[in-house]
Formats: sequence, C-alpha cells, structure tokens
Amino acid sequence: MTAAAMVSCAPEGDPQLGKASIDKVIAAMTLEEKAHLVIGTGMEGFSGEAPVIGETRNLVPGAAGTTYPIPRLGIPSIVLADGPAGLRINPTREGDDQTYYCTHFPIGTLLACSWNTELVGQVGVAIGEEVLEYGADVLLAPALNIHRNPLCGRNFEYYSEDPLISGKIAAAYVNGIQSNGVGTSIKHYALNNQETNRMKNNAKVSPRAIREIYLKGFEIAVKESQPWTVMSSYNYLNGVYTSESKDLQTTVLRDEWGFKGMVMTDWFGGADAAAQMWAGNDMLQPGRAGQFEGIVEGVKSGRLSEADLDRNVRRVLELIVKSPRFKGYKYSNKPDLKAHAAVTRQSAVEGMVLLENNGVLPLSEDIKKVALFGTTSYDFIAGGTGSGNVNRAYTVSLLEGLSNAGYATDPELETIYGKYIEEETERNRKAIDSNDPIAKFMPVGRAGEFVPDAKLLAKTVAANDAAIITIGRNSGEFLDRKVSDFTLTAQEQGMISAVCDAFHNAGKKVVVILNIGGVIETASWKRLPDAILCAWQAGQEGGNSVADVLKGVASPSGKLTMTFPVAYADHASSKNFPIDLSFGMFGKEEGAAPEKNVDYTEYEEGIYVGYRWFDAQNMEVSYPFGYGLSYTSFEWGNPTVKSKRNETIVTVDVKNTGDRAGKEVVELYVSAPAGSLDKPVKELKAFAKTRELKPGESQTITLKVNNSDLASFDQAGNAWVADAGEYSFLLGASSRDIRATLKSELKGSVEKVNPLLFNK
Ligand code: BGC
Repeated sequence: MTAAAMVSCAPEGDPQLGKASIDKVIAAMTLEEKAHLVIGTGMEGFSGEAPVIGETRNLVPGAAGTTYPIPRLGIPSIVLADGPAGLRINPTREGDDQTYYCTHFPIGTLLACSWNTELVGQVGVAIGEEVLEYGADVLLAPALNIHRNPLCGRNFEYYSEDPLISGKIAAAYVNGIQSNGVGTSIKHYALNNQETNRMKNNAKVSPRAIREIYLKGFEIAVKESQPWTVMSSYNYLNGVYTSESKDLQTTVLRDEWGFKGMVMTDWFGGADAAAQMWAGNDMLQPGRAGQFEGIVEGVKSGRLSEADLDRNVRRVLELIVKSPRFKGYKYSNKPDLKAHAAVTRQSAVEGMVLLENNGVLPLSEDIKKVALFGTTSYDFIAGGTGSGNVNRAYTVSLLEGLSNAGYATDPELETIYGKYIEEETERNRKAIDSNDPIAKFMPVGRAGEFVPDAKLLAKTVAANDAAIITIGRNSGEFLDRKVSDFTLTAQEQGMISAVCDAFHNAGKKVVVILNIGGVIETASWKRLPDAILCAWQAGQEGGNSVADVLKGVASPSGKLTMTFPVAYADHASSKNFPIDLSFGMFGKEEGAAPEKNVDYTEYEEGIYVGYRWFDAQNMEVSYPFGYGLSYTSFEWGNPTVKSKRNETIVTVDVKNTGDRAGKEVVELYVSAPAGSLDKPVKELKAFAKTRELKPGESQTITLKVNNSDLASFDQAGNAWVADAGEYSFLLGASSRDIRATLKSELKGSVEKVNPLLFNK
C-alpha cells in the first residue's frame, strides 16, 4: 500500500505522518506503538513469538528487514536490504515469471584498492539505482571495519588496515548511493574485527586505538557523507555491548561527529532492549518479541524514560519520511542491469593490483592460446559469502572472459577441470547439513586442487603459448579463515611449481591470478611465475575484467590497501586472533570457561595495526601497504609544501614516462616530530589518483592535510594532541617507496574531547 493510499483510508482525526508534524504524530502514539516502531517486524524462524507482519515480509522478498508500519498514523513500512557488493534480494518470486537479479559489483576490498573515490562514487550511484528501482529504501552498507588481521572472514567486505582510506572510500560510496534518494547504513560500528563468537566477543582495546584506528574511518564517513543510518556491531567493547553504549551511539557519534541519522542494531545484536534505547541505538532489527516487552516494561518501571524512547521514535520517523516508499515512488523493478554490468566490469579493472610482472603483461600479440590451470579459472569467485553475497544472474569465469577477449583455451584441460569441479562440489554439498539454517550462507567447502601430471603437462605445453593459473579463496560471515587458508596448500604449491617448470623449460610464460577475498601467503612462491595479478573477487563480470587487464585494454592501477606479510604470524594481532577455532554464530557452549580470542580479545597491539606495525618493527614484508605495479612508468617531480594556519598543502607533478596510458596513485604519509606521545613511523594522511595520463602527459596533484588530522589521541589528557615541531610530508608510490620528503614547521594543537567509559 502506498503512503497516499494509507492516508486516505485512515480514520478521521488521527494525525498523519507527512501531513501533521512529527511531534503531533508522536503525541498520538501509544506506548505499544512506539515500542513496535523501534523494533523491526521480525524474521521468520528466528524471532521467537516475533511480531512478524506478513504483508511487510513480501514488500521486497529477500530483503533483510522492514520497519513496523502503523497505518492509522500514515506510517508505512520501509525496506532494509543488504549490500555491500550490490543489493541482496531474492532473484525469483513464487508465481511470478519476472526475475529480480541484481548486479554483483566487486567486493569492498577491491574498490578500496582502486584508491579512486570518484570511481567508487559511480559504483555507488549504480548500486543505489538498483536499490531504488527494486523498491528498497536503505542499503545495509558500506562495511568498513578495519582489517586488523588477515584471517577475519569478512575482510572482503571491508576496505583496509588503514582508517583514512576506509573512511574516504566509505564516504564516496555513501554519497553515490544516497544521490538516488535512498539510504545507507555504515556498519559495523564498531570493532567487529572477527567473526568467531561475534555476538559475544569482548574486544578489549585501548582508548587511543579505539579513537585513532577503529573509529576514525566511521568519523570520516559520517562527516563527509552523512549516511542516513549507522548499524551498531554485535560485539562488546571493553565490557559493554556497542549497541548499549551511550558513549558510542550518542556521545561520539552525535555529539562529537554531528551524526543526524538513525542507528539500528545488527541483526539480533545486543541483549537489553531498554539499555539499547537509552544508549541511542534507535531501532532494533529484525525485532524479537522479548525486545518489545523489554521496552514497554522499561518505560513502565522507569528504567527507560519515555523521552528517550520518543527521541528514538522521532529518528525512525525522520528516516521513514525521507524514504522513497513514503514518498510513493513508483519503482520499476527494472534497473539498468546492462549499464551496471559495464560499471562493474570497468571498476573491477581499476582495483586489481599487479604484484609481479617481468614483462609478460600485457600479453603480447603472439600469445593466442592459453592453458588454464586452477579450479577457480573455471569457477571464478564473484564475491564472498553471507549477507554480503549478491543474487546475480551470472558470473563470467576467467575461461569465458578470455574467450570473449579472443583467446583460445585448452579444451582438454577444460573437460578435465569441469569434471573435477563437479565431483568436488558434490562431495562438499553432501557434507553440509541441510537442516542447519546457517548452512545456506556458508561457502560450499573449497574445492581441492587438481595437480596435472607430467604427461598432461607435456601435452598442454606443446599445445599452448602460455599458462595462466588461478588461486582462489572464499570466505564470509560467521566464520574466520584459518591459517591453512592463508597459506597455499601442498596441491596448490605443487601445481604452481609443476606448471612453471614445464612452461619455462619450453621458454613459455606463466601468469598467476589471485581470485581472493583476503590476504594469502605469497613470499614463498612469488618468484616462480612471470607475473601475479591480484584480481580479488571482482564481481559478476570478473573474467572479463581480468581479460581486459591481461590484454592491456587498460593498465592496472590498483594498489594494496593492506600489507601482504611474509608470514601470518608477522602481524602483531596474530597473537590475539582466534586462529583455527571455528565457533559459528552461536558461539561456544554455555557455561564453558572464558577463552582468550573467543570470549574476549586483547587488542594488545594497540595502534600498531598493518603497516604501522611493520614499519615500527622495520620488518620485511611480501608486498607493502600501498604497493602496486603498472604497465607504464611515472616520474614524480616538483614536490612542494606550503603550510597555512590550519592546513598544509602538498603538490607534486606526476608524468607518464612509459609508452602506455595509465593512472598513478599518490600517497601522502606524515611523520611527526618526537614529542609527548609514541608515534607511528608514518601514517597515511591524504591520497589522490591521477586521471588517465597518456604517454608523456603530466598532472599536478594537490593534497591537503588539516593540522588537526596530525593529532594523536592522548588517553591521559583525553585530548587529540599534535605536538609543535617539524613534520615530514612523504610522497609515496607505496608505503615503502617514498619519492620525496618535504618538511614543514607546524604549530601544535590540543583538542579536548568527552571522557568516555572506554577504559578497559
Ligand atoms: C550481518 C549484517 C547484515 C545483517 C542483515 C548480519 O548477520 O552482520 O552485516 O546487514 O545480518 O542481513
């Protein structure tokens, strides 16, 4: 029913949302109506005696949740649906011939590796159009938790180990989506950095690391894009559920950052509905009967003030009023899927990272026939699993992508792999308990790897001009990865060595494609092939995008937004991460003794996450943060620095000195003078990407850093402190490839903030 229709059939006298003021609507609501409005409409099979409302469930089938409608007051239900790699709804509906497929765009990590906020904004515009045209109101995305450790099962949805790039990419994505007049929900706020026991894990973190590393990205996103909503996380932070923390949901988010929207829980997050309401977590999703009672009882007993509840009700109503559904938007159910396929194909190209290249790429014209190895070459992974998966109409495999690009592939290998994949998939499917409601979200176990024998290899070497090997990994919600998923298996190692030996002996080249959602071990084998392209999980057009890069339609211009360490244990956080434990969504057995990294996780490394740690230790890495090769070369010249009262402006000229068109990423790191606080060796403070530069062409890049962004958080003084002194501004093509160092004398600053209950 549209809002207009509801208004017309409402009884005389009741104030109607949109016509009467929100104050009047709230004044007309009963306590029970208020309590209903601030919790969702339930989820079948999960909400106990949930207030599941049939009619809303079918508004957009497959959407994660709906808000509670109150027709008497002209309050419609609005629809919340997952992302972030695209809109997640059911692709088919009972008794309906039409399909409702959505475009599967590249995973968040790939988008971030483009370092191109404009491009991410365009992807957002396209996703937002699908949200609008399929009748959803809020996309439950972007997800910007920090890559604290390479094994977090959801890193693929997240952007980086660095908060600045996370925040900037998230803001670009939000601005793109919301330009369609639909909302976003930046998630998971905050410190949801592991999946193991995610609903009960207590993250024990220092206030400094909370502010500088884990909240910073959210702060940037809030200030630069005003997302309509924020989704609180599942975990505890220093003993308090984040959804029950007034410090997080009100003091920091609203009072300090100026957030104006609504906060909702993650699905079934937190325990005490009245406490969540009090904290400023305005809406509980998807809604449970017990929560309704908790709120009503809370108000009746005085544990929850009705004023606090009214404040949350107001924010829910303000959200509803902005929504397309309230405005009566007539969605078409026909977004421009064709145009969006082109957007995902092109955006994927920009976020792929060329890790190695001894000159084999782009493939020369005499390479016409390629031997494809690795199961994922034939069964390309578009994106991760769980709520971040998208019901797409198709996935272009590498095999198809290469064939679309005019390459011939080896038919015998295709047959062998086809059969192998079929058998492995069947074996894995059988291993899954079909009665487990969570199982359908899980990755169908990773296929083993087929190692070609000498005879087959000899045949393929003779019949092909080059070899391509794909190494694949998939992961997702509910489960963290294991160390054995980080390292290559013996079969994979065997396949790489055997293929490289055989092809190299015949003077032929080998390229490795990484079809992964999270970091893997590369140090032990990276010298074997002639090139390595980290293609990530590149969305439904993945195979076409990889073929575009291999063929040289575009030069790769992605750079890593995280470090590839030599060994997993090199990350400081590895000491405090649930290695090889698999506790799913429901945690471990009730009553068992508290267990490190399961019941609680000590963030002992503090702010030394990612490159901040590797730099401080001066540790060798396999590929540093910010690294990525190109098909062309760039010269950086004329670096300048100018400090004004509150900001420093750095410029540099970037010239394409190679013989192909390409884009370059300019990273600006800052090193602070020695002062009162322990400082990282350097921190990313700004970045930009050039436009596509033709050979010989130059562009001047201008980067700005506010003095206040140079501050670190002083726990003792409860303040952001920037010491006075000489700062170094480092212009880098990666965190370990600094092209120019500029110095500037800056005045110090101290900015007091609210004392919070973050202390452990
Ligand atoms: C996930 C969220 C998601 C929600 C709704 C939860 O399990 O953590 O990211 O938005 O489900 O599907």
